[in-house]
Amino acid sequence: MHGTTVFLLARFVHVVAGVAWAGALIFIGWYLTPAIRATGPSGGALMQQLVRVQRLPVYLMTLMALTILSGLSLFWLDLTAFGPAWMHTGAGRTFSAGGAFAILTAILGVAVNMPTSKKLGTLMASIQAAGKQPSAEQAAEIGRLQNRLYRAGQAAAVLTLLAVICMGVARYVP
Ligand code: HEM
Repeated sequence: MHGTTVFLLARFVHVVAGVAWAGALIFIGWYLTPAIRATGPSGGALMQQLVRVQRLPVYLMTLMALTILSGLSLFWLDLTAFGPAWMHTGAGRTFSAGGAFAILTAILGVAVNMPTSKKLGTLMASIQAAGKQPSAEQAAEIGRLQNRLYRAGQAAAVLTLLAVICMGVARYVP
């Protein structure tokens, strides 16, 4: 395939997947998880619907993989086109910083957000299947998981925003 076509394809995938991934994480971190935490067990039921039925984690993982793989390809293509000195230009440094923020977001998502939302979804499903109110122990566990998800969601939203800011201005950084 022609070099320009590969570059355009990588940019297309990168910008479309990156915008969708970043937008979803910012919405989840700043609006959805605070709302889920504030509404207690009924919020947990919404979480269960999103995670187990609508497979939100699969959607987020796919966008994350597409963004990072296409970003690394673009990075490699820029490096080979402009040489290693590109890394030390304002643009090179800022794209690198943005990429690092995005990769940190991905690590946080895979290590904390996803397992926590999965646990919460499973717990809510078992409570729903039993057809009873959650026990005191279960309610405490729901609260603990919702707090963790809230904090990790906020951290992921801030890291994503930093990545978006870097990606948005990098080309024009002197
Ligand atoms: C939150 C995740 C991300 C978003 C929303 C995002 C968004 C964008 C956008 C909108 C551009 C176009 C900027 C322009 O042309 O001025 C861009 C370019 C770029 N991104 Fe990202 N990006 C993300 C993550 C990453 C990651 C993980 C890497 C990997 C290191 C990366 C590497 C790059 C590179 C090298 C370019 C420049 C491509 C070129 O020379 O045209 N990005 N990104």
